[in-house]
Amino acid sequence: MNSLYYGDNLDVLRRYIKDESVDLVYLDPPFNSNQDYNVLFAERDGTRSQAQIKAFADTWKWDHVSAESYQEVVEAGGAVSQAMQAFRKFLGENDMLAYLSMMAPRLIEMRRVMKPSGSIYLHCDPTASHYLKILMDAVFKPQNFQNEVIWWYRKWSKSTNHFLRNHDVLLFYSKEPQHTFNILRVPLSPSTLRRFGGKRQDFADEERTRKITTDEDSEGGFRPDVWSINLLPAAAAEKLGYPTQKPLALLELVIQASSKPGDIVLDPFCGCGTTLTAAQNLDRKWIGIDITHLAITLIRHRLYDTFGPQIKKTYEIIGEPVSVPDAENLARENPYQFQWWALGLVGARPAEGKKGADKGVDGRIYFHDEPKSTRQIILSVKAGAMHANYVRDLRGVLEREKAEIGVLISMEAPTQKMRAEAASADFYQAPSGKRYPRMQLITVSDLLSGKGIDYPPEDARKDATFKQAPRSNPSKTRNFELPLD
Ligand SMILES: C[S@@+](CC[C@H](N)C(=O)[O-])C[C@H]1O[C@@H](n2cnc3c(N)ncnc32)[C@H](O)[C@@H]1O
Repeated sequence: MNSLYYGDNLDVLRRYIKDESVDLVYLDPPFNSNQDYNVLFAERDGTRSQAQIKAFADTWKWDHVSAESYQEVVEAGGAVSQAMQAFRKFLGENDMLAYLSMMAPRLIEMRRVMKPSGSIYLHCDPTASHYLKILMDAVFKPQNFQNEVIWWYRKWSKSTNHFLRNHDVLLFYSKEPQHTFNILRVPLSPSTLRRFGGKRQDFADEERTRKITTDEDSEGGFRPDVWSINLLPAAAAEKLGYPTQKPLALLELVIQASSKPGDIVLDPFCGCGTTLTAAQNLDRKWIGIDITHLAITLIRHRLYDTFGPQIKKTYEIIGEPVSVPDAENLARENPYQFQWWALGLVGARPAEGKKGADKGVDGRIYFHDEPKSTRQIILSVKAGAMHANYVRDLRGVLEREKAEIGVLISMEAPTQKMRAEAASADFYQAPSGKRYPRMQLITVSDLLSGKGIDYPPEDARKDATFKQAPRSNPSKTRNFELPLD
């Protein structure tokens, strides 16, 4: 059974993932250098949204949490402890040290869960790759370093005092020297074919010429450690609006090279689920972990849209509330996550928050019940005690937003008076003639027992609130590679 965990990966790894149980780890942790580490959806017309949702602000700031993390690693001794102490001397107590202090115990856990034949790919950028390589050397030993893979992409911008920064880095380490590795080939370019492929004898190294010619003749050249894969263009079918989403083509290369069908692939920072989708495409099993309910919601949608309804039976979600007390706990610990979880259950998209244009709106659902029309459902989520004015306020927001339906999701059951007030809001009549209550009150307990919002069905919902991922087509070659020469 594949598993998707909601939670902090350090905690999830320690609590749930057994020693030597994973074949391949890919991680793409957030980093401050990359401003779009905040979850930021594109607007429906493709422009950048005002509604910026901070999924995890300042995860990597030097504070008591990172200081504790640092202390724990240092006290454990060994190479990692020495590397961290050296970093502290050199860097001081700054954001970079915080980042490395948060990464160190997680990398140690990742090594623990890897099988002896396993590999790990740490995706980062040149801002931190040099420090992370030292840390990876300390955790995995220098002799297990396999490659620094450069993912090169085209991105045109202005740069007057340095070259364009157009690559990411994937640090590839194995747990032991003997590790799973499948040779991947690349088609040789016409110029290479012309140089090495003909019958010319004017090469210094004839032996080499013969070898390359033989491989050409068969399956192409050995894949080098520079991969040229386009960034996902805005119009790419697989692009879902998650800003740090990586191309499936990249993940498929990693998985094809370092695992076999049936192997277990772990992504402890799984975002919108690119690794999980690629693993599923390639018949691998997978484990995903993410600290936001928004990511879990997106992944659920992505898997459903890509692989169809039967996918639901092949994985479990662990760490989401399954009872009212669970939901109360989540609301107490993290009101934002509670909101995202509740909105996720009804397929809504979180709104920016309480300020500005989105005042009073926690989430939105869109639907199209006739061609070229976009209708809206406004959601308000209340974790605390109920107040008589909640229904009235939401009615006001409904008018202001010209939305068709308003939904109040609450932990506490609404009073009789609130129900009466909701009932007096009348109905939204769809073009089909069917009527839907304009104000709907749903409790968390209703949600947990499977109740949803009453609004026009499947066809009207398609591709409306979240962009729909395309159906899986693993046999299709992804056309993302750029010529290297
Ligand atoms: C750069 S994104 C990953 C994007 C992903 N590769 C994709 O293609 O969608 C990093 C993710 O890590 C998650 N994250 C951050 N800190 C985490 C933690 N401590 N435990 C688990 N997930 C975490 C964030 O919520 C975010 O979704």
